[in-house]
Amino acid sequence: MRKKLIAGNWKSNGSLELNKALLEGIVGAKALGSVDVVVCPPFPYLQSVGNVISGSMVELGAQNCSATEEGAYTGEVSARMCADIKCSWVIVGHSERRALYAENDEIIARKVKRVVDSGLTPILCVGETLEERESGQAEEVTLKQLDAVFLSVQPHESWVVAYEPVWAIGTGKTASPDDAQSMHKALRNNIRKHFPQIADKIRILYGGSVKSSNAKELFSMPDVDGALVGGASLVSEEFVSIIEAAVE
Ligand code: PGA
Repeated sequence: MRKKLIAGNWKSNGSLELNKALLEGIVGAKALGSVDVVVCPPFPYLQSVGNVISGSMVELGAQNCSATEEGAYTGEVSARMCADIKCSWVIVGHSERRALYAENDEIIARKVKRVVDSGLTPILCVGETLEERESGQAEEVTLKQLDAVFLSVQPHESWVVAYEPVWAIGTGKTASPDDAQSMHKALRNNIRKHFPQIADKIRILYGGSVKSSNAKELFSMPDVDGALVGGASLVSEEFVSIIEAAVE
């Protein structure tokens, strides 16, 4: 039985004041304990958010990290630094990073390696664009993104994969529960092909316009193990309702 995980991807949003208000509701959520919860603020807020959630069951994640070693890499933040300030998770390969910052599968695999080597757990995002879905390539593209990482860095059962169809991110359009289930099952079967011992343990989250009104139905699918939530993770009551929808 896989415990559900709800991760909030704040993207480039927040302020010291807003974060505090947002977290107040989240750390008090009754479902903490039955559901794993991670918040991923922007880098400058990691430490202060870490202080606010310390002692609660909410965990801390970064939204990105560097693919390089530490050193003369202006502007880069290493996975080790994230670990140093008590992050447990790092989102890698988000479609916004792939599309806007030219991160390809090779860079993403290198980042995952850094994450793992720093003792952190990756949340690896994969998913197709609308064009790819409409031309019948959704599964092929998504599995290729998965393989690019899983076949170059030895995966562990604690890893998390987030299936995020690009056309559903921030658009208000959600994959139907059946479409999500079908892709999650394909991802799990693909993991099973190479790593049968971890396939049933790895959690596969759905991401893309998840909100309190569609969460329960998505979570009722056998291979949907939670959600990576963008917009709705910035509204305390919404995010808490999504967490509650994940209670079995
Ligand atoms: P959204 O974003 O929930 O706002 O669609 C999800 C994500 O990008 O992780």
